[in-house]
Amino acid sequence: MLTKSVMGIKETPIMEVANFGREFAKKTGKEVFPAWFGEGNKPTKEIIFKETIKSLKEGKTFYTYQNGLPKIREAISNYMNDVFKIRTFPENQSLVTGGMLGIKIICDMLIEKDDEVVIVGPVWPNIRSSVILKQGKINEVDLKLEDKWKLDINKLFSSITENTKMVFINSPSNPTGWMLSEEEQEEILSYTRKKGCWLVSDEVYHQIVYDREVSSSFLKFSKPDDKLIVINSSSKSFNMTGWRVGWLTHPSFLESHIAKLVQISTTGVPEFLQEGFYSALVNYKSIVSEVREELTKSRNYVFDRTKNWKRIQLPFTNAAFYCFFKVNEMTDSVNYAKYLIEKTQVGLAPGIAFGNSGEGHLRLCFASDLDFLKKVLSRLEKELS
Ligand SMILES: Cc1ncc(COP(=O)(O)O)c(C=O)c1O
Repeated sequence: MLTKSVMGIKETPIMEVANFGREFAKKTGKEVFPAWFGEGNKPTKEIIFKETIKSLKEGKTFYTYQNGLPKIREAISNYMNDVFKIRTFPENQSLVTGGMLGIKIICDMLIEKDDEVVIVGPVWPNIRSSVILKQGKINEVDLKLEDKWKLDINKLFSSITENTKMVFINSPSNPTGWMLSEEEQEEILSYTRKKGCWLVSDEVYHQIVYDREVSSSFLKFSKPDDKLIVINSSSKSFNMTGWRVGWLTHPSFLESHIAKLVQISTTGVPEFLQEGFYSALVNYKSIVSEVREELTKSRNYVFDRTKNWKRIQLPFTNAAFYCFFKVNEMTDSVNYAKYLIEKTQVGLAPGIAFGNSGEGHLRLCFASDLDFLKKVLSRLEKELS
């Protein structure tokens, strides 16, 4: 018999659609164009993986530090301080096997059965599943779509009760591209501080912005012992999704607890991957500027090409790399995404995967090159314009 908590988690509807698409491709022999996951078709840059190859040749193939090599923690700290103009230290940084493991470790540290967790949605489904696995109770506060996505901050505050253990916010947001302002961050942090609950901020898209240097971080307003944990990742900023390298920025008293949880999960990020990631961190300016330049072209192309499509509503976004659009009169996004695969051979993520407030929407990841996007949009145009 499996545990109730495992039985309580469902496969995400994104995977359901992706599996349908893969099966469809196998059965029909037709190519399916995948824009369903949060990654494009651009591999990691050579300046990063050169260091990994070198370190493998040097025999760096042994167990490593649980929270990351000292030099990596220092490099992360320098990166964070430089990017956000803040003051953190290596003991505030822990390397983890992707932002995803970071989320899992946070839930293992903070959530017990029936603890309330406030989540701002629509949001990436794995966050919800990680809370469900710990048998936490989710109270979702939905962003509202006006001319753009907006948070009603009073609604957020009134959802926080004395039983709230954690507030989870992902800004810049996957799937909407919504971003919190500095003022909102300051206000939210001072509220959770007053209430005594944890604030967990998923900032994995902080470099994927088009109208500013970087998105704002809650860390700009925090004190050393605030109950604040920030999740980050190499995946999006450095095209490193498959590497599974991320980090947490946390109060120093969490360092040893995170180390225990790393020990009994992955026992640490392989040293040769840490060496590659080190190179990404110290060269971040040039890498991020290249990644952003490519993404800007893709974003402009996709928004320009779809701007007169009659069947969809797509608010312009200045962050992340998704078009999250409403399809008029569509109410079953899983079935509609499957229909689009059959009709157009394009794979999109169904909006319901991101919460009830996402139903009626589809998400297209535009982090790919223009050739790919041209093919995808020409196919979708027949159905959605
Ligand atoms: C909002 C958000 N948080 C966290 C992650 C996890 O990133 P990774 O595990 O690749 O570091 C993702 C990946 O898609 C994401 O979209």
